[in-house]
Amino acid sequence: MDKFPAFLLLPFLCFFHSLFLSDADVTGNSSDPGLTLSAESLCAQLIEPNGYFCTEHTVQTKDGYLLALQRISSPSGDLKVQQGHPVLLQHGLFMAGDAWFLDSTEQSLGFILADQGFDVWVGNVRGTRWSHGHISLLDTDKEFWEWSWQELALYDLAEMLHYIHAITSSKIFIVGHSQGTIMSLAALTQPDIVEMVEAAALLSPISYLEHVSAPLVLRMVAMHLDQMVLALGLHQLNFRSDVLVNLVDSLCDDHVDCTDFLSSITGQNCCFNKTRMNFYLEYEPHPSSVKNLRHLFQMIRQGTFSQYDYGILKNLLIYGQFKPPAFDLSSIPKSLPMWMSFGGNDALADATDVQRTLEELSSKPELLYLDNYGHIDFLLSVQANRDIYDHMIGFFRSLEKSSSY
Ligand SMILES: *[C@@H]1O[C@H](CO)[C@@H](O)[C@H](O)[C@H]1NC(C)=O
Ligand SMILES: *[C@@H]1O[C@H](CO)[C@@H](O)[C@H](O)[C@H]1NC(C)=O
Repeated sequence: MDKFPAFLLLPFLCFFHSLFLSDADVTGNSSDPGLTLSAESLCAQLIEPNGYFCTEHTVQTKDGYLLALQRISSPSGDLKVQQGHPVLLQHGLFMAGDAWFLDSTEQSLGFILADQGFDVWVGNVRGTRWSHGHISLLDTDKEFWEWSWQELALYDLAEMLHYIHAITSSKIFIVGHSQGTIMSLAALTQPDIVEMVEAAALLSPISYLEHVSAPLVLRMVAMHLDQMVLALGLHQLNFRSDVLVNLVDSLCDDHVDCTDFLSSITGQNCCFNKTRMNFYLEYEPHPSSVKNLRHLFQMIRQGTFSQYDYGILKNLLIYGQFKPPAFDLSSIPKSLPMWMSFGGNDALADATDVQRTLEELSSKPELLYLDNYGHIDFLLSVQANRDIYDHMIGFFRSLEKSSSY
């Protein structure tokens, strides 16, 4: 594990001291476990106003988190007689289920799949605005944020799949974006999870992060932003908080030009509608945990796709070995149909890393490469339907035809 000299933090600690004191306001008032006021639900805010049927479901994970899961059908459909094949949409880092509905109704994958008659389920991982409950912990507790994408994969995604599988008695199509693909790939290495999955479609697929090229992300890794934030006593990572905003701001200087902030963390996005930025920002970013950031930074630094690295001694205690066990991509069954779309301007899901993922998988996923696409375009492109989702739905349909649905 990397060491970080604590004294280097002193100037930061002083600088952020006053901001840090106001952090309590940032975590806010969402500390009521399990409470979902309907006015605060994703269905009520974003889905129903567009005329779609939507129901809210609560899923409890093995470690006690209460996750919101939405089920959606088109205005012409009927949830009670939903015929289509179930699809679970799994969002990425600092996002939540809303991410699939922020483009226009004609271009948002969530709406498109519902229009096409699919039984659409929308996942929201722990810590996001829609999944902020726990049976005993409050989001102001340090323990509430003691997880990384590993738990999102092995607990959250697993539990959502169990729930959908129990209700629909059907195997499920998974669609993931970004961290949603890290979660999917990790989860699919587990025999008890993959048996519930019919196929996986991955947008900006990530298992390795060694070749991340986003300048601001590399700067955060080099500056040990993860350790800085921990030293500030924070466990929740909330980019709506003054602390984080200022900390990131301080990283933008002669080294990193952040005038185009989004590009500096995701790459040049060709195709999303920048005049809708304020609307996107009503929903994104959602909180995540500092431990998750540390796990992602470990992947960038070490070039691994492994469980969380606690350092040699604690690894020995927890895993019985010096290094954390890797997720073995080759153990994802060859028989599982997969489809992937990646972009030439994606500074997070770099083509070199995607290539390595492909080499380690035993199956041969169908691929759609979009030269001009950046990381965000996969969700928000003004022509996402024509460019990507048409192909993805074609992939799903080909599977429905070749089996007995
Ligand atoms: C939290 O809720 C209480 C009671 O509803 C209210 O008085 C207080 O101002 C709220 N605090 C924040 C930070 O919203
Ligand atoms: C971009 O968003 C604006 C504001 O919502 C809208 O008026 C415009 O038609 C959109 N442009 C495209 C190409 O979708």
